[in-house]
Amino acid sequence: MGVKIAIGGKGGVGKTTVCAVWAQLFAEDGFNVLAIDADPSTSLASAFGIPSEQSPQPLIKMKQLIAERTGTEKGSVGAYFKLNPKVSDLPEKYWLEVDGLKLLVLGSITDAGAGCACPEAAFLKALLTHTILQRQEVVLVDLSAGVEFMGRASVQGIDALIVVVEPGARSIETAVNIARMAEKFGIRHIAAIINKVTDPGQVEAINSELTSISVLGSIPYSGAVQTADLARRAVIKADAQLVEQLARAKKRLIELIGQEAKVK
Ligand SMILES: Nc1ncnc2c1ncn2[C@@H]1O[C@H](COP(=O)(O)OP(=O)(O)OP(=O)(O)O)[C@@H](O)[C@H]1O
Ligand SMILES: [Mg+2]
Repeated sequence: MGVKIAIGGKGGVGKTTVCAVWAQLFAEDGFNVLAIDADPSTSLASAFGIPSEQSPQPLIKMKQLIAERTGTEKGSVGAYFKLNPKVSDLPEKYWLEVDGLKLLVLGSITDAGAGCACPEAAFLKALLTHTILQRQEVVLVDLSAGVEFMGRASVQGIDALIVVVEPGARSIETAVNIARMAEKFGIRHIAAIINKVTDPGQVEAINSELTSISVLGSIPYSGAVQTADLARRAVIKADAQLVEQLARAKKRLIELIGQEAKVK
């Protein structure tokens, strides 16, 4: 079974950037990689440099498919729906192959509806559970801030939750809260990446606040990354130093998980 990694953190800290670069690095190492965009404002495709017109439609928007699978099509009886819809055939059907890896755009339920007992939530939960517990690939999930919506089973199948932090008190607070929640849910490894660093003192300051979370590495603020984002170019081609730092962080993560055998 491939390693399963989820990436969280406050809005705008660099979750999608980290997810895209790691996915491509794992693919370069020869692993089968499945990158999952589980953020309501899907943007992982653009971090791979995929033009917007070729970006896959998020599965959460496929009303007909969700209705079919959860048994809520017109003519079905009452307000009941299947809590465990069949989804195991969907990744292959809907993923997009990019640069030797697979991208599956799920989307998510926006904050207002998070945790709702609705067919969409059951459908998403089933897909995340399937990809995290049953797939053989290395799976990377680009999350929106929370982890509750994933459901206990899939959360517990995650090998590591990575929180991305930028120099800023609110991003640190969010990271600490996510880490606490992840711990409560029983996620085995929780680690941080410090992003957008403009001064070494910031790394020290953040390190001293993230006492119970191991820091995998820090990444400098990069104008080239912003330029690439604006031009919708793949972030992995934007800045060699950023890629190098993320490759090191990835190595540390694998050491931390202590499952090199598992990902090979
Ligand atoms: N090291 C960096 N240097 C400069 N800009 C960066 C860096 N990392 C990410 N960015 C930029 O910051 C913005 C947010 O990054 P990204 O989309 O990866 O964050 P996110 O946490 O996924 O955001 P969201 O919460 O909106 O999903 C993007 O414009 C991205 O290009
Ligand atoms: Mg994002």
